[in-house]
Amino acid sequence: MEIKAKANANIALVKYWGKRDEKLNLPAVGSISVTLDQLTTITTVETDESLTEDEIIINGKTPTDKEILRISSFLGKIRSMAHRDEKVRVSSRNNFPTGAGLASSASGFAALALAGTKAYGLDPDPQELSILARKGSGSAARSFFGGFVEMIRGYSEDGIDDFAMQIADENYWDLKALILITSEEKKKVSSTTGMIHTSFTSPYFQAWVDSSDEDIQEAKFAIYEKDFEKLAEISELSCLKMHALALSAKPGLIYWNGSTIDLINEVRRGRANGIPMFFTVDAGPQVKVFTTAAYVEKVKGLFEGHPGITKILTAGIGPDAKILRDED
Ligand code: PMV
Repeated sequence: MEIKAKANANIALVKYWGKRDEKLNLPAVGSISVTLDQLTTITTVETDESLTEDEIIINGKTPTDKEILRISSFLGKIRSMAHRDEKVRVSSRNNFPTGAGLASSASGFAALALAGTKAYGLDPDPQELSILARKGSGSAARSFFGGFVEMIRGYSEDGIDDFAMQIADENYWDLKALILITSEEKKKVSSTTGMIHTSFTSPYFQAWVDSSDEDIQEAKFAIYEKDFEKLAEISELSCLKMHALALSAKPGLIYWNGSTIDLINEVRRGRANGIPMFFTVDAGPQVKVFTTAAYVEKVKGLFEGHPGITKILTAGIGPDAKILRDED
């Protein structure tokens, strides 16, 4: 049976960085994200009894052995849930650059979890899907839900309470994101490697964990109140704390380039001049700028033609992941 699913990328405003259990991929902290409408992964999964190995194609190419192993082991989890053992043909396509700090693993594993479970005849609820996707990539747990999403940091040993849920849907608050691409090179240190390295070597790691619940509460409050200024402050704080942690690892991890810093400064200048905008940066050099729908063209105008930017992607708040039918 061939199943096609679509999931959107998400960007964290309160960041996930660090694992409380590496094997089960349990996050050390909760996180808050927004799902983006223009950045999507579409994945097709087809079971085939004649296959001896999973056949995996991403963006028209065979991925690296390491990526194949990661995806196959994730498919193995679905097979054991379904008590089935036939292999699958997977074809996945992102409409945005892969592996450059743009959360392709989030939409990728969410789409794979959705299409994969259906292809093997399972019908998990969103919470079960979120738990499953988290095993592929922590941020993927958030990509099932549209709008504003919270990933809960659980406490159980088996991770049954580590899942994401929606705070508010995509129609709640018309924010826009501009993704300022400064480099399309693949990042040198993946988020998984980077966060594990950080948790073992940064002297500040425990302080990060201890202060994360407060950040989550503040961000949730800012979202409930639609308080842009408050959301700007807490999002920038969480981003800078995450990068401060990475910088304080041994050896330190620098995900930024010179343009990243220039753009961060531009965003702060713009906000000081009364334009509602704030930045966030993930494990790569791209700068994501949030603003309101009313200001999006003005903010775009500030960055168009900037020498440090190779491309600008614009997105609104996106919907839940879904199975695509022929008519979609
Ligand atoms: O889901 P992962 O393992 O790719 O980690 C994501 C880490 C950040 O993007 C830097 C932060 C986040 O919460 O998305």
